[in-house]
Amino acid sequence: MDRKLGLTVFFVLCTIWQVNAAVNCTATGAGRFTDGTDPTCQNYTYCVFVSSNSSYLAYNYVCPSTSVFNPASAKCTASTNYVCNVTTPAPANTSVCTADGFVADPNAVNCSSYIQCVQINGTFDETTFTCPANTFYDPNTTLCDSNYTCTTNTPPAANTTTAPFTCSTVGRFANSADTACKTYYYCVLANNGTFVQYNYTCPTTSVFSPTSRLCTTSYTCPTS
Ligand SMILES: *[C@@H]1O[C@H](CO)[C@@H](O)[C@H](O)[C@H]1NC(C)=O
Ligand SMILES: *[C@@H]1O[C@H](CO)[C@@H](O)[C@H](O)[C@H]1NC(C)=O
Ligand SMILES: *[C@@H]1O[C@H](CO)[C@@H](O)[C@H](O)[C@H]1NC(C)=O
Ligand SMILES: *[C@@H]1O[C@H](CO)[C@@H](O)[C@H](O)[C@H]1NC(C)=O
Ligand SMILES: *[C@@H]1O[C@H](CO)[C@@H](O)[C@H](O)[C@H]1NC(C)=O
Ligand SMILES: *[C@@H]1O[C@H](CO)[C@@H](O)[C@H](O)[C@H]1NC(C)=O
Ligand SMILES: *[C@@H]1O[C@H](CO)[C@@H](O)[C@H](O)[C@H]1NC(C)=O
Ligand SMILES: *[C@@H]1O[C@H](CO)[C@@H](O)[C@H](O)[C@H]1NC(C)=O
Ligand SMILES: *[C@@H]1O[C@H](CO)[C@@H](O)[C@H](O)[C@H]1NC(C)=O
Ligand SMILES: *[C@@H]1O[C@H](CO)[C@@H](O)[C@H](O)[C@H]1NC(C)=O
Ligand SMILES: *[C@@H]1O[C@H](CO)[C@@H](O)[C@H](O)[C@H]1NC(C)=O
Ligand SMILES: *[C@@H]1O[C@H](CO)[C@@H](O)[C@H](O)[C@H]1NC(C)=O
Repeated sequence: MDRKLGLTVFFVLCTIWQVNAAVNCTATGAGRFTDGTDPTCQNYTYCVFVSSNSSYLAYNYVCPSTSVFNPASAKCTASTNYVCNVTTPAPANTSVCTADGFVADPNAVNCSSYIQCVQINGTFDETTFTCPANTFYDPNTTLCDSNYTCTTNTPPAANTTTAPFTCSTVGRFANSADTACKTYYYCVLANNGTFVQYNYTCPTTSVFSPTSRLCTTSYTCPTS
């Protein structure tokens, strides 16, 4: 009786653990295996074949103390007997940037923000900008637009904003007063027909190119 109860508890726990199995037991078959990505070499999975339903139960274990799992002998062994040589995989390139310019913010649910990409010394400097209220980032124009239809947005509600300066059309414009070419204006057309003006500064060593209208290290500021 006790043994049957014990087995039942055992299998219930196994079912829970099986969900998080580090190893695909269907691929490995029965036995003890490491998933091959554990840089500590201490983790292994025990795969048990259940003949009644031709499936596997999997248990994740950790070798005790400082011992490590030797995949050849399928046992935990002293670290002096087996040299763990699992190199952690190279960090994934999660950059959304592929060139100087602008890309939609993949985390923006509402097309409400975008990312400025500036390649500096081989890696991208990424700066996230938020569109003005009720405007949405249009990847085609790379501008925030009040009548761009974002596929995941909730419809715009109220009329938006104004600013002095001479924003007379939408887009990014060099600040001609800035001899260092570091700053630029960004003009967004609000729902009520007026412009919202932003002043931005290019990151680190990049400058604003008036021809490509973006921050880049490829442009040489004539006066700097
Ligand atoms: C596990 O391995 C089997 C056999 O190689 C394969 O068919 C199955 O898709 C794998 N399952 C997962 C979750 O990778
Ligand atoms: C090793 O196992 C421990 C305990 O289950 C877990 O916290 C850890 O994430 C595992 N490491 C790897 C690389 O799977
Ligand atoms: C196979 O049987 C075991 C033991 O009864 C159970 O824990 C497991 O969930 C079953 N697997 C499948 C895929 O039905
Ligand atoms: C570790 O593995 C790498 C690649 O598999 C190999 O080049 C290197 O010689 C190994 N180092 C040791 C100490 O075994
Ligand atoms: C990241 O991946 C993109 C696209 O695959 C590539 O263009 C870019 O150069 C990569 N960035 C780095 C820093 O490797
Ligand atoms: C999407 O936009 C609506 C209306 O502007 C706003 O109420 C909502 O909070 C936004 N959702 C997210 C996730 O930002
Ligand atoms: C880029 O690299 C050069 C030379 O390698 C270095 O002098 C400069 O500081 C770097 N610039 C940035 C912004 O990291
Ligand atoms: C971008 O422009 C192209 C060609 O002008 C058009 O076919 C496409 O639908 C536009 N995409 C969006 C998201 O507006
Ligand atoms: C916005 O909508 C107006 C009127 O529907 C249209 O004339 C204009 O071209 C649109 N602007 C953009 C950037 O699509
Ligand atoms: C346009 O709308 C914004 C708010 O949506 C408001 O701040 C601004 O004053 C409006 N401009 C005019 C001229 O009505
Ligand atoms: C936005 O402003 C325009 C011009 O003032 C007006 O005709 C329109 O009704 C306004 N829209 C909303 C949603 O208030
Ligand atoms: C943006 O630039 C305009 C014109 O040079 C200036 O009047 C305004 O104060 C600036 N705004 C900010 C926040 O720097």
